Amino acid sequence: MILPIVAHGHPVLKQVGEDFPQGDPAVARLIEDMFETMYASSGVGLAGQQVGVTGRIFVIDATPFAEDGADAEGFRKAFVNPHIVAYEGGKVPFEEGCLSFPGLREVVERPESVRIQYYDEQWNFHEEEYSGILARIIQHEYDHVEGVVFIDRISTLRRTLLGRKLKEISEGHVDADYRMVFARQKKSRKRG
Ligand code: NI
Repeated sequence: MILPIVAHGHPVLKQVGEDFPQGDPAVARLIEDMFETMYASSGVGLAGQQVGVTGRIFVIDATPFAEDGADAEGFRKAFVNPHIVAYEGGKVPFEEGCLSFPGLREVVERPESVRIQYYDEQWNFHEEEYSGILARIIQHEYDHVEGVVFIDRISTLRRTLLGRKLKEISEGHVDADYRMVFARQKKSRKRG
């Protein structure tokens, strides 16, 4: 089932996710819906908060970034109850976008590598290290489960300059080809 995506300005994006109960069978269906939603909106990653879920979960298919790293090709994974246990390496700049911020792209600096613990959809535990483009995508999605969005990681000045654009997004004045939920929509707008 394709779920509507929560837009910037909605308080759920600021909520820190809580671990799902160990072995929770509802997680498999949620992962299926999240992948379906992500593909329908041409995203490379989607976190629970973006579909109104405050459990710790995100899904990734990094294939569209195959040019930025060979390991991205076919990298399709669900991360349940993820916890980053180490950030390593120097900060690297990279232009990011986010399904909750249609039309916005900003350069964000993030550490080169991460070590992350998580469960997969069958509740098998993993601890893995990622670098490059995969570490980039994982950190962006992991931020969502911590209630952090990518514009929280740009300069205050830059964020101030984006004020009008951010207000427009929160009020539903966006050009997105997928269904969204807005916290501050003033009146219903017809969307194609
Ligand atoms: Ni995002």
